[in-house]
Amino acid sequence: METVLVTGGAGFIGANFVRWLMANTMTRVKVLDKLTYAGNRGSLEGLPADRVELVVGDICDAGLVDTLVAACDVVVHFAAESHNDNSLRDPSPFITTNLVGTYTLLQAVRTHDKRYHHISTDEVYGDLDLDDPAKFTEHTPYNPSSPYSSTKAGSDLLVRAWVRSFGVRATISNCSNNYGPYQHIEKFIPRQITNVLTGRRPKLYGTGENVRDWIHVDDHNAAVWTIIQKGQIGQTYLIGADGEKSNREVIEEILRLLGQPDDAYDMVADRPGHDLRYAIDSTKLRTELGWRPTYPSFAEGLAATIGWYEAHESWWADAKQATEAAYAKQGQ
Ligand code: NAD
Ligand code: DAU
Repeated sequence: METVLVTGGAGFIGANFVRWLMANTMTRVKVLDKLTYAGNRGSLEGLPADRVELVVGDICDAGLVDTLVAACDVVVHFAAESHNDNSLRDPSPFITTNLVGTYTLLQAVRTHDKRYHHISTDEVYGDLDLDDPAKFTEHTPYNPSSPYSSTKAGSDLLVRAWVRSFGVRATISNCSNNYGPYQHIEKFIPRQITNVLTGRRPKLYGTGENVRDWIHVDDHNAAVWTIIQKGQIGQTYLIGADGEKSNREVIEEILRLLGQPDDAYDMVADRPGHDLRYAIDSTKLRTELGWRPTYPSFAEGLAATIGWYEAHESWWADAKQATEAAYAKQGQ
């Protein structure tokens, strides 16, 4: 039985990945997670104890990382500081975790010659104009805008260098915006859902025209496993499900699904440097590796996600007040 080391496995996508592995493979999983404000033990509750183990620790801890990497077959690196707004408030943990943490993992997989998959974001490519027919491809030049996306871009470049200079057996994937269960309520979709559920009004940044390319987290994770199984070492794969929507459209859809008037939201201060539009061309992944998104539609996925937040208030309620207080300080 293969052992997969999942960094950041108590976070949103990582926890869903561990759940996906339990349902779809025979692997054993070791999660390495620091349990920052974004990590939650509860996201791994109910999983089989003989197949999933949580190690609480930092990906910058070289000794711990070396021991865990030595004992696994493959490393899937999700752990990161992941929120743009936080990176504008304080970039420092982004530099440490996203750059030094990735370097620490790369040194360990180099030492022990382990297969490594690096989880990254479409934000490394910057943004597109609203009326531009283009989408990001694997050939789009890097042009990140925020402290978050620039540290993710830097970490991707470290991986490429470790492949070329040291022969590390790595692949990289850059995915668009994920939605689904277990996402921290600081993020756009769960923030608006939990705003309505707690009697607050949803908050739309700037003009609300900004476009994100939404993909269900299970489709992202199925693509990651496909790349680990069939991807070519040294290659980058873009992951996306043709889910472009403006932020205004998403807020209106959430309000409709929750039985509210679709204009019951507030326009608030814009994010500094706010990327206008992301859009992914995932032709390479689809044609070379045969992956397809399977989630029926954004509307159905969103309805299921709303249902999950309604049914799991205990998972998010404690974080709500502090999250909103931090946003209020910056007029959002
Ligand atoms: P998240 O913030 O929900 O989870 C991050 C996890 O990493 C948390 O459990 C946290 O405790 C852990 N962590 C943070 N610093 C750590 C450290 N120093 N050592 C060990 N663990 C640490 O993030 P997410 O949204 O699940 O994103 C996961 C990955 O996917 C990130 O690399 C992110 O850049 C990438 N990504 C996210 C999206 C998205 O839409 N959320 C899209 C594309 C790519
Ligand atoms: O594209 C992939 C990226 O998607 C990932 O790399 C990041 O880790 C992930 O956080 C996400 O980044 P975004 O900045 O796009 O996501 P966020 O949920 O913060 O915001 C989505 C959009 O909604 C963005 O245009 C800002 C806007 N927004 C956000 C919040 C929190 C609002 O209008 N109102 C809000 O309250």
